Amino acid sequence: MRFRHDNGGERATQTICPLVLHEVCYEAGEQRLIDHISCTLEAQAYTMVLGPNGAGKSLLLRLCHGLISPSSGSILWNGLAVREARRYQAMVFQRPVLLRRTVAANISYVLSIHGRPCRQRQTLVSQALKQAGLLDLAGRPARLLSGGEQQRLALARAWALKPQVLLLDEPTASLDPAATQMVEVFLEQISKTGTKIIMTTHDLGQARRLADEVLFLHRGRLVEHGPAAEFFSAPQSKEATAFLAGHLLWS
Ligand SMILES: Nc1ncnc2c1ncn2[C@@H]1O[C@H](COP(=O)(O)OP(=O)(O)O)[C@@H](O)[C@H]1O
Ligand SMILES: [Mg+2]
Repeated sequence: MRFRHDNGGERATQTICPLVLHEVCYEAGEQRLIDHISCTLEAQAYTMVLGPNGAGKSLLLRLCHGLISPSSGSILWNGLAVREARRYQAMVFQRPVLLRRTVAANISYVLSIHGRPCRQRQTLVSQALKQAGLLDLAGRPARLLSGGEQQRLALARAWALKPQVLLLDEPTASLDPAATQMVEVFLEQISKTGTKIIMTTHDLGQARRLADEVLFLHRGRLVEHGPAAEFFSAPQSKEATAFLAGHLLWS
């Protein structure tokens, strides 16, 4: 696949999956917060990162997106270094950071700074707002939206860039059940368009609804990695068993 820039130049689009982590460690001071994590994540699966508080879920996503660097080990996106793969990814956090502009302008501005041609932007904005169920709110100041609408806008803005991979850190943690459900519907649509999602959540119901595969972390270690159905029905480790029973809240 190729895309053409405004200046007529052409740049080959790289495929950035699979993501391969090899013996990744992250240390702060004396503490090893991520401890020799190795895994391969394929393009197709909806990946859910689970584990008790403090297990290292957010750190793992930040490492994969290049916001922090491993102390040792390697992270390669289909052979590409993290900094090269980053332009094909987007990350959304628990609390969206929106610009003091209209809903539509939040998306078009981000498209412009990422170099999307002017003539494409209007279409991309409309598509993203429609998918997010926000078309009627296009002209409203973003800061006046409800929490759930703001998070859908943050996701729409990320998705408008057509990332190959979306990294989401607890995207519904501050939302009520109705707002959470609307975000989940949007996430399922995004996943169906072929964007890989790697996401953390502390909501086990949500993980069951969305995940194809689970990475289960405990104290910075990858304790289990496998199909979601197997993880939920027959966890292999005592930590995951305790976590699923609600007995392991802190790492
Ligand atoms: N920069 C840092 N320096 C020291 N400790 C940190 C740092 N960032 C995170 N931690 C600690 O690392 C552990 C894992 O953090 P985090 O990835 O945020 O956990 P969670 O699984 O809840 O997302 C926690 O104990 C946290 O306090
Ligand atoms: Mg976290």
